[in-house]
This record gives sequence, C-alpha cells and structure tokens, in this order.
Amino acid sequence: MKIVVTGGAGFIGGNFIHYYLSAHPEDQVICIDKLTYAGNLSTLASVMDNPNFRFVRMDICDRDNVFALFEEERPDAVINFAAESHVDRSIDNPGIFLQTNIIGTATLMDACRAFGNVRYHQVSTDEVYGDLPLDRPDLLFTENTPIHTSSPYSSSKAGADLLVQAYHRTYGLPVTISRCSNNYGPYHFPEKLIPLMIVNCLYDKPLPVYGEGLNVRDWLYVEDHCKAIDLIVRKGRIGEVYNVGGHNEMRNIDIVKLIIRELGKSEDLITYVTDRKGHDLRYAIDPTKIHEELGWLPETCFEEGIKKTIKWYLENRSWWEEIINGEYQNYYEKMYNNR
Ligand code: NAD
Ligand code: TYD
Repeated sequence: MKIVVTGGAGFIGGNFIHYYLSAHPEDQVICIDKLTYAGNLSTLASVMDNPNFRFVRMDICDRDNVFALFEEERPDAVINFAAESHVDRSIDNPGIFLQTNIIGTATLMDACRAFGNVRYHQVSTDEVYGDLPLDRPDLLFTENTPIHTSSPYSSSKAGADLLVQAYHRTYGLPVTISRCSNNYGPYHFPEKLIPLMIVNCLYDKPLPVYGEGLNVRDWLYVEDHCKAIDLIVRKGRIGEVYNVGGHNEMRNIDIVKLIIRELGKSEDLITYVTDRKGHDLRYAIDPTKIHEELGWLPETCFEEGIKKTIKWYLENRSWWEEIINGEYQNYYEKMYNNR
C-alpha cells in the first residue's frame, strides 16, 4: 500500500510515520507538510533515508501541486493530520485555521476524487463536540453527540468533518473520521500544556495555569492514537466516525503537580494566569464503538506514558531547545507576559 500522510512533521503525524514504517515495512509513505512553525524536519530525521519514505514540502491548500503529486504517486490512501492545531493561536488569528483546516481538507478530498476515488481518513478531534459540565461525570462524548464548538480551532475542525461527510454522501468518497481526545508523548510542540510545563520546569520558569486549573482533559498516549488510526484505515466501516480515547480524565492542575513531582521541582513555580476565552470545561470520550467494532484498546496507561514522555524530553533536549530558542520566544512573550 502507498499512503499519503499530511502534517507528518508535526506531533501526531510524526509519531504516526515512525509507528507506520515499522509496523508496515512493506508499505510506502509520502509525507506532505508545509513546515509551519509547528512542523519540524528533525522529527523525521531518522526516516529520511528510508527508501519507503518520501518527504515533500507542500501546502495542502496548494491545489495545483497537490494534484500534480497525486498524479505522480497515485496513492491508495490519504491520512490527513495537517492542521493548525492550537486553540490559543486560533483565538488570536482564526483566518489561517479556516484556510488550512477547511480549504486544505477540501483540496485533499478533491485530489482523492480526481485520481481514482482514493481512500481518505480525516484526523479530527473530540473538541468538535464542545465541552461537558464538570459536575456530570456520567456524561461522555459518543459519536452521536451533536457538534457544538467553542473555539475557532474546533469550529474549523468541525467544518472539515462536515465536508468529509458531505463528500462521502454526495460523491461516494470512501472516508472515515477519527475524533480523539488530547494526546501526549514525544515530539509534542512546547506550546501545549504537557510539554510546556515540562520545559518550563526544567528551566525553573513559572508554570502558567489558566484560571483555577480545574478544567478537565482526557489524555491518551500518542502511540495508542496512531494504532487506532491505522486500524480504522484498514478495517473501519466506510462513512463512519470513530471516537478514540482511554478514559483518562485529569484536571490541569493535577497534571502540572504530577510533572513538578516527577522532575523534583517546587509547586511555588505554579502561577495562575487569566483564563483562556471560551475555555472548554471538560472533555471525555466514550470509546465503546472502536473497541467493540475494531477491538482497539489503549495499551499505555497515564502513569507509564507520562514517565516515558518526561524521559523523552530529558533525553532529547536539542529537539525542543531549537524550538524554544527561535520564533517561539516571541509567541511566548505575546501569550504570557502580563497575563
Ligand atoms: P501539530 O500542530 O503538532 O502539527 C501540524 C502539522 O501540520 C505541522 O507539521 C505543520 O507544519 C503541518 N501543517 C500545518 N498547516 C499545513 C498546511 N497548510 N499544509 C501542509 N501541512 C501543514 O498538530 P498535532 O497535534 O500533531 O495534530 C495533528 C492532527 O490531529 C490535527 O488535525 C489535530 O486537529 C488532530 N488532533 C490533535 C490532538 C492533540 O492532542 N494534539 C487531539 C486530537 C486530534
Ligand atoms: P492545550 O494543550 O492547549 O490543549 P486543548 O486546549 O486543545 O485541550 O491545553 C490543555 C489544557 O491546559 C487546557 O484546559 C488549557 C490548559 N493550559 C494551561 O492551563 N496553561 C497553558 O499554558 C496551556 C498551554 C494550556
């Protein structure tokens, strides 16, 4: 099989490429990535020389070049990870989210239609369901929970999901969608909660907790997400949505305290800052469908996954130091100074 993976220089796409090339050494992988601020070629350094891997720097919205690549490569499947992915950035500048997340998705699906009705998988998010109340632990997102978004990011992802379903119904494009909860693990860009707290702890810098830190996220180790996507692409029912999550709900403040403990730092580093606008209270996935239909279950529990993640950041300082010594400093100043 020959697959196109978009956004492979990012966090989950990069982990997916590493997982996929070792799980399916007979397959070919072509990665399309624009290399935005979130894309790092160093994430893919160890596979660059693999004869079954090709990297192409390209914007998924660039119709002419996307079509030319499909004509040349004739892929069997496309897995779309490419996206603008950070909620805080979407609050500052929604336009690029609409462009990449919606127009980019449509462009890729148009190419799939033009070159043989190619199998298409959309990597979506549980954030399309909006949020759940903190005092109703019995409520979980199922695939039938209505779309009800909060941020420009989640709205753009929901717009893309609706288009994917429309291309299936209107044109018969063979699609699937996965909606996963928050991921953590290696190669996670340090603007997101877990890597930001690890990196700041290592520098004894303040740990900026939004609001009171009581918001809840449902955390899944990234490799478990990658395995779920691989299963859905191979065995999922066409036209279906699959939720992916491992019943691991945690309050932000508890995650921050856990990281502090693991790194032997002081809780005095915690700094409560102004809350995010429109901040979703709680996410929680019901993964019954993917478990019952495809037999998927998470393999890495949080206690183990967070230890592995912290170890990775300790052992791969050059990966993240290159990021935080660059443009990231301007972002950090703008987002957190005087907050
Ligand atoms: P990321 O921001 O780390 O990586 C995104 C990648 O896409 C980067 O390599 C970037 O260069 C590339 N990209 C951005 N715009 C592009 C464009 N126009 N053309 C080509 N490439 C472009 O994101 P991530 O955390 O790895 O998320 C990957 C996907 O998974 C996204 O679709 C996101 O919505 C979804 N998702 C993420 C999470 C999570 O916790 N991170 C959870 C559920 C779903
Ligand atoms: P994030 O990693 O941005 O993921 P998402 O908003 O997509 O769930 O944030 C996770 C949670 O952590 C969210 O409730 C916001 C909070 N948060 C902080 O408290 N401080 C921070 O510096 C960041 C980046 C996030």
